[in-house]
Amino acid sequence: MDTFIEASSSAGVSPDTISISNINLSLGTGAARVHILKDISLRVGSGEAIGLIGPSGSGKSTLLMVMAGLERPDSGQVVVNGTSFNDLDEDGLARFRGRHVGIVFQSFHLIPTMTALENVAVPLELAGHPDPAGRAARELEAVGLGARLHHYPTQLSGGEQQRVALARALAPDPAILVADEPTGNLDESTGGQIVDLLFAQHAQRGMTLVLVTHDNTLAQRCDRVVRLRSGRIDGPATERNWVETA
Ligand SMILES: Nc1ncnc2c1ncn2[C@@H]1O[C@H](COP(=O)(O)OP(=O)(O)O)[C@@H](O)[C@H]1O
Ligand SMILES: [Mg+2]
Repeated sequence: MDTFIEASSSAGVSPDTISISNINLSLGTGAARVHILKDISLRVGSGEAIGLIGPSGSGKSTLLMVMAGLERPDSGQVVVNGTSFNDLDEDGLARFRGRHVGIVFQSFHLIPTMTALENVAVPLELAGHPDPAGRAARELEAVGLGARLHHYPTQLSGGEQQRVALARALAPDPAILVADEPTGNLDESTGGQIVDLLFAQHAQRGMTLVLVTHDNTLAQRCDRVVRLRSGRIDGPATERNWVETA
């Protein structure tokens, strides 16, 4: 297995950080089986920020899970940072995710029995980072939580919890960051601060960002907006960096 440093320095080699081709995915069994993603192809350039919008139930979260390697499609190919998910077994996929994919959820998903520092350090430990605690502290300082390192999630406000989640997602220096309605559980002003922080980190680190949101104004802050409708891409609304698949 390559080292943490080597894995990090290989980031950004591919011109497209995310390349998704002809994805189909159904979930559920029997009569409840739903064809959720229908022949989806999408390329996201290295460092690009895309806003993924669409009505509730259109498949946004499912597509994000496919990009993150948390859900395997029934057919089609997902390539992230030059690695095809079809070539990875479950362990390989988990390792790849740990190093190259950051995920932020609407409901934070912090581990309640761990402090902010521990929540951020765990994925670094798993990725083989030489100094998980030191790096975690620096990442928490970068999101304005230098004074909250040893607080537990219940001792933090919603906005602070989402900052911890963002620090945790960014700490391994992922090639891609996917965020699923990251402001959905926050009031407008707190959500605005999280969004500003997210875009500031994107500008500073240059990772590829996929942001799911139902907020059109927020989506417009991205380089490109992609709209989903009933499990299909409804045509790219803006075409900056758009590359047609062959
Ligand atoms: N595990 C599942 N089993 C069956 N249907 C599912 C499952 N997960 C999601 N769905 C259905 O897939 C559709 C898309 O869901 P989702 O990706 O969560 O949409 P969005 O994030 O755009 O609101 C919805 O109709 C939802 O009910
Ligand atoms: Mg969703």
